[in-house]
Amino acid sequence: MPFYHKLGKIPPKRHTQFRKPDGSLYAEQLFGTIGFDGMYSNSYHEQRPTQVREIKNQYSVAPKISKPNNLKSYRFRGFQVPQEDDYLKSRKAVLTNSDCTIILAAPKKSQEDYFYKNTDADELIFIHKGAGTLRTHLGNLDFKYGDYLLVPRGVIYKMQFNDEDNRLFIVESRRPIYTPKRYRNWFGQLLEHSPFCERDIRKPETLETYNENGDFLMKIKKQDEIIEMVYASHPFDVVGYDGYNYPYAFSIHDFEPITGRIHQPPPVHQTFETDAFVVCSFVPRLYDYHPLSIPAPYNHSNIDSDEVLYYVDGDFMSRNDVDAGHISLHPAGIPHGPHPGSVERSIGKTKTDELAVMVDTFKPLMVTEEAMKIADESYHQSWLDDEK
Ligand SMILES: [Fe+2]
Repeated sequence: MPFYHKLGKIPPKRHTQFRKPDGSLYAEQLFGTIGFDGMYSNSYHEQRPTQVREIKNQYSVAPKISKPNNLKSYRFRGFQVPQEDDYLKSRKAVLTNSDCTIILAAPKKSQEDYFYKNTDADELIFIHKGAGTLRTHLGNLDFKYGDYLLVPRGVIYKMQFNDEDNRLFIVESRRPIYTPKRYRNWFGQLLEHSPFCERDIRKPETLETYNENGDFLMKIKKQDEIIEMVYASHPFDVVGYDGYNYPYAFSIHDFEPITGRIHQPPPVHQTFETDAFVVCSFVPRLYDYHPLSIPAPYNHSNIDSDEVLYYVDGDFMSRNDVDAGHISLHPAGIPHGPHPGSVERSIGKTKTDELAVMVDTFKPLMVTEEAMKIADESYHQSWLDDEK
C-alpha cells in the first residue's frame, strides 16, 4: 500500500542494534518487492525468520484446464461450489491465465494447524459471506461482508472465520496489485476525484507476537505447487515493523460511485489496477440524469480483454436470470450487452442497488474443470429473444 505504516516497537534508525530487555538482538528482516525497487517493510522478529527444520510434502495445485481457448460466454453459479472444511482445499480455481487466477471458495473452518504463504501472487480476497480475522505476521485485520483484503505476496497468514457460512471471491495476481495511479498525486496522496481516500483503507492495528519454539507447519505456494515446510520458531513473532508493504482492507461499501448525465464507462468503477488486469466495484448509485438517458449499458466489444463480473447483491438491471454468487464471463473478441428487454426496462429508473465486482483481464482466460461443474452451457444464447 503506498502509505507509510508503523506498528509495534522499532528502533529509531534502521539497520542498527535493536535489543530485547535481556540484551540480545531482535532479528531484522527487509520484506520487499520487485527486487529492491518496490514497496518494502522492515520487520523486527523475536527469532531469525530463517529457521527451516524440515521440508515435507510437495504437490501440485495447478488449475486443471477444460477450455484453453474459449470464445463462448458463460455464466457460472458460484454458490454451487461445495463447502469444504479446509481453507486451502476449499479454493477452487475457475478461470486462469499466466497473470492471474480467479478462485471461488466456501471454507467452513478456520486454519488451525498450519500457516499459509503465497510466494507466487498477491491475493485479493473479497468477502461475500462471512466474517472473521485475517491473522498475519504483519498484524491482524478484522473482516466482514463487502471487504476486499489485499494480501501482498510473501505475507504469512491464517484465516479465522466466526462461523461456517463463508463465501470468498479471490483473485491471485502474479503482477503487483495497486490502487489506480490516476487517483494519486505526485506524492502518493489520493486526489479529490478519487472514489476512496486514505480514511477508507484499513491497516493492521494489532500484532500477535509469539516467542515460541516447536514445529510450525507452513504451506507455501510456489509455481502452482504447495511445499510444506516446518519451521522451528513461531511465524508470528514480529514485535514491530514500518514501511509500505503490508496487508490492508477496503470495504466495497466505502467506494463512492462516480455518476453522470449519460452512461459512465467501466473505468469510473475501477478500484485496483495491475499491468495485466483491473478490478472494478459496481455499487449502489444514482442513474444517469440526462432526460433521454438510457441507464442500461450499450452493447460493447471487449476487443482485447476478457470480462468477468461477480454478482454480489441487489438487482442486476442489465441481466436476466442472474443471482448473487453468479459469475458471467464475456470473452474478448465478441460483443455482449444488455439482455433482451433490459434496455427499455432501465429507462426512467433513477437508481440501482446492484453490488458487483468486475475483473477485466488483458490476456484471455482459460476455463477450468471446476468452472465447468457450475457452468450454464446455454448462457451464450441468452441474447437471442427479440427485445420486448
Ligand atoms: Fe460488459
